[in-house]
Amino acid sequence: MPVVVKERLLDLLQDNQKNYYELFVFFLDSDVSSFEKEKKARDFLIKEIEKLEIEEIDFPSDINSIKTWCENDNKKNCQEFQAYLNRRQAGQDREYFQSVAQAFEFLIKVSPTKKVDGAWLYSCVHYWNDPVFHELIITYLEELGLGEPKANHVCIYDDLLRSLGIDSFDLLLEDEYYHHAVVQLALGYAPAEFIPEIIGFNLGYEQLPLHLLITNYELVELGIDSKYFNLHITIDNIDNGHANKAIKVIENIFDKYKDKELFLTKLKRGFALNNHGVGSSKIIKNLNVEDFVLKILKRKALVGQLIHNETREFGCKTINQWLSNPHDVEGLVSHLIDHKWIKFNSNPEQSIFWRLINDENGKMFGVFTPVERQIIHDWIAGDDHSSNFLTYSKELNSNQRIQDYLFSYISDGELDALQERVLQSSDLAIKICKLTPFLAPDSHHKSIGLWSTRKYVELLFPYLGTFKN
Ligand SMILES: [Fe+2]
Ligand SMILES: [Fe+2]
Repeated sequence: MPVVVKERLLDLLQDNQKNYYELFVFFLDSDVSSFEKEKKARDFLIKEIEKLEIEEIDFPSDINSIKTWCENDNKKNCQEFQAYLNRRQAGQDREYFQSVAQAFEFLIKVSPTKKVDGAWLYSCVHYWNDPVFHELIITYLEELGLGEPKANHVCIYDDLLRSLGIDSFDLLLEDEYYHHAVVQLALGYAPAEFIPEIIGFNLGYEQLPLHLLITNYELVELGIDSKYFNLHITIDNIDNGHANKAIKVIENIFDKYKDKELFLTKLKRGFALNNHGVGSSKIIKNLNVEDFVLKILKRKALVGQLIHNETREFGCKTINQWLSNPHDVEGLVSHLIDHKWIKFNSNPEQSIFWRLINDENGKMFGVFTPVERQIIHDWIAGDDHSSNFLTYSKELNSNQRIQDYLFSYISDGELDALQERVLQSSDLAIKICKLTPFLAPDSHHKSIGLWSTRKYVELLFPYLGTFKN
């Protein structure tokens, strides 16, 4: 093993993660053993649970009232959504996303969580020979689309980001956006003592939130494919979907625990972990396209600082001088605004800066990608002139999705070897044991994980899907 790789692994194994992003990378690193991930998950969860103020959490004290409590919450959210629809039908504006750029900002900021969708349930696949866990395992397998890329939630979100051209913006995200994803991953690798926390978290996560209904509605209006969000309204439904399974599983598992009080406390803790990190509602409330544009400009400054003409000066500094310190980018932008190179709340064509970056003959054409230009366009245009509809929406809808044709031309032989090992064994337990590592959050959405999921479904729940090799 090369020394650099060894050093990196050592860093990861010791307690050297300095932030949530590094923990995110740790849990999704296939080179780290599940034993090490379990150790890290336990330590992390203990610390997260210590932060909870348990008395403050609104949660039923009686296990029998959980179902009604959830149904009431569901009803309240549906009523609030109806009120929202009435406001919209009466001609009021969108309430979440004023422009395409704001929708992009939202989709990028929630992406770390969406990339590990379902992860909190991963450990349950190890408990396959105890039927009490089957509802949870089925929920997890459905998050994985039963091994079909078109239905695998992580694949669907990846595909959405890719088709919109916003799949490389995660570099702009602050560490806090990885916090909730790490909670999910830690629960996914947590040892059996955390089962009540996992099912408590699952209960909270699978309920229908108001923000999901409104997000789904407004993305469609903006011409953005909302399949991922719509899917969570249907598949998580409280009648027979994941929300319903989440309640049933609590009732079944509760009977097995001797210390009922401890079980309830742990369940409540798990439920409360849903609020750790920056959730969708908070992200929507704090959308700030200007801040996002500044981040894009600062990233460009790293390259741009050395290639501008040294003779042209803006406010006593050359462009190279402005760009040499990323913090000065804000100063440069103020300067462009003061000198009317950027004219806010009007058609961007009236801004010299916009024409420089957007016209094919503009001096800076090609510096910004089409998506970056979309975000900058909506920032300059303001509420009255920003894009209400994604221009390439029609093309996206009329084209068949790449997922129908995905094929890996480069193979390391790992899948072939696994298929052989699984087919050669006649023992169900051995087959399952060989498949489960590939159902993990780091691999279930790749070829080997998708095949393993389909095989796992075929072996344990054949009635759920038709296995295709
Ligand atoms: Fe999901
Ligand atoms: Fe779900």
